[in-house]
Amino acid sequence: IDIKTLRGATNGVITIDRGFKNTGSCESEITFLDGEKGVLRYRGYSIEELAEKADFLEVAYALIFGNLPTQEQLNKFHADIKSKSVVDDDIKKILDAFPKTAHPMGVLSSLTSALTAFNPSSVNVDSEEDMYNSIVKILGKFPVLVSWTMRKKQGLPLNYGSTSLGYVENILKMMFEQPNESYEISPIIKDALDKLLILHADHEQNCSTSTVRIVGSSHAGLFASLSAGISALWGPLHGGANQAVLEMLEAIKADGGDTKKYMAKAKDKNDPFRLMGFGHRVYKNFDPRARIIKKAADEVLNDLGIEDPILDIAKGLEQEALSDPYFVDRKLYPNVDFYSGIIYRAMGIPVEMFTVMFALGRLPGWIAQWKEMRLNKEPIGRPRQVYTGENLRSFVEIENR
Ligand code: ACO
Repeated sequence: IDIKTLRGATNGVITIDRGFKNTGSCESEITFLDGEKGVLRYRGYSIEELAEKADFLEVAYALIFGNLPTQEQLNKFHADIKSKSVVDDDIKKILDAFPKTAHPMGVLSSLTSALTAFNPSSVNVDSEEDMYNSIVKILGKFPVLVSWTMRKKQGLPLNYGSTSLGYVENILKMMFEQPNESYEISPIIKDALDKLLILHADHEQNCSTSTVRIVGSSHAGLFASLSAGISALWGPLHGGANQAVLEMLEAIKADGGDTKKYMAKAKDKNDPFRLMGFGHRVYKNFDPRARIIKKAADEVLNDLGIEDPILDIAKGLEQEALSDPYFVDRKLYPNVDFYSGIIYRAMGIPVEMFTVMFALGRLPGWIAQWKEMRLNKEPIGRPRQVYTGENLRSFVEIENR
């Protein structure tokens, strides 16, 4: 290979790193992750403490602005979000055009992108004030799109919830309120949702966040960058795993609960089956989010008086993996997606909406990362390659090919 084709823009040599397993794309002050020790912190606050003590909007504020807010800052932030939560009525027409069978992640990604058309000022963010306006707009409108996506599938009227409620309470009301019935918010469900959203809120340079940053690095607007991130999250190797886990656990249950059979399939290199919700690019001991979620799954199901046999199947798989050399040698442990679906289902959220719930939680992280990237004036993201195709050859007329 001609060495000149390998020379990078700064005259260094280009390295190939498939899957960017050893490549840092930026410096960041947002999220600290130690995969060997199973440590995750947002802005220096431990995930364990945040999940126990904070609510989601406080965590969103900390991720986006750097510190936990004072009560006054939080009130203003929430008021600004509420004042921007109305979605243009024409978005309803777009939603209406989707078939009922459409996957909610495809719908959500499209509607998020469509928001740009109705909010053109959100594209040019020349000042921190412009940036702030785009941020509160999307934090206001995104939960509305999430709830509408679910309600459309269920044939329910589209609603707006109530401005007198907290951010998470309002999400629940928008999603679950039935026509002609007053919706009572269960504190158990509210706390569970807060916890799940917090645990999903950021995870440094994962696939969807890197997507948001790289799309945003071309100075595409925030909503367009987020729409790309939602598409990246959809895949079953990333956020789509939460839906895939529940479907897998259901399939194991329907197959008589034979976990050993599925463990064997996962280890068989000629079988494409993977144990969904297991393994992580960065965590090589345990995923601290999975530990918190496993405990929460037990508590929530207990508090709601639900007995779900798939929770036992999930625990059985984890137990078997812990003593199986295949999983131990490869350091494969349950990740954030392994137990989350069991809680979502207990809350009454349909399986196809699980990844949408992940997107709702990840929204502040994507926003924080996009903001940091723009404020740091990161250059456009543009990796190189090593060309392995044909050398120069002559054009051949179509009749001679
Ligand atoms: N089941 C069976 N084997 C697995 C699994 C699994 N879930 N995950 C990894 N392996 C094996 C691989 O086959 C490979 O084995 P080999 O060394 O014999 O070839 C080895 O473990 C390393 O796996 P890679 O795919 O190289 O690891 P990578 O870091 O690229 O992938 C990923 C990480 C995508 C999470 C992977 O573990 C996976 O596919 N897990 C299942 C899907 C999942 O749960 N995704 C959610 C991740 S969390 C999140 O995104 C929110």
